[in-house]
Amino acid sequence: MSDLHGISTISDCMVVQLPKIHHANGNLTVVQHHEQVQFDIARVYYVYDVPAGADRGGHSHKECYELLVAATGSFEVVVDDGFNKRRFSLNRPDQALLIVPGIWRTLHNFSSAAVCLVIDSHRYDENDYVREYEQFMSMVKQK
Ligand code: TYD
Repeated sequence: MSDLHGISTISDCMVVQLPKIHHANGNLTVVQHHEQVQFDIARVYYVYDVPAGADRGGHSHKECYELLVAATGSFEVVVDDGFNKRRFSLNRPDQALLIVPGIWRTLHNFSSAAVCLVIDSHRYDENDYVREYEQFMSMVKQK
């Protein structure tokens, strides 16, 4: 999950293809431990009713791994390791973006009625957040 220097990089963040079980009455996608996700799932939450033009995120996690899915609609995620940034477009319920700890992320351009489903390795803990970009950058430089 880390590069040779032992720090997280944006190349550790990747799109994971999820299974899509087709059925005449509707499709089904599953996220299962040791198959689509390598961490123990501790928490699921979803972000919705995002007003047009609003952004989310704007933080990094110290320990928590996250898998983000556009369960409905679409949005963009910018991941930033302090040196490089990459923008991902999520717009399919059978694709997830893995974000590893130590990555600054921002979410943008939510379509109307978009639902961002998030599957986490840890329970909610405000102490796991880094919410100031300057603090994030000083932590990156210390590594
Ligand atoms: P935050 O993680 O900052 O949302 P986003 O990254 O989508 O912009 O969380 C927003 C608020 O919700 C913040 O006050 C913390 C709270 N919160 C919880 O109480 N439990 C949770 O599991 C999460 C994810 C957030």
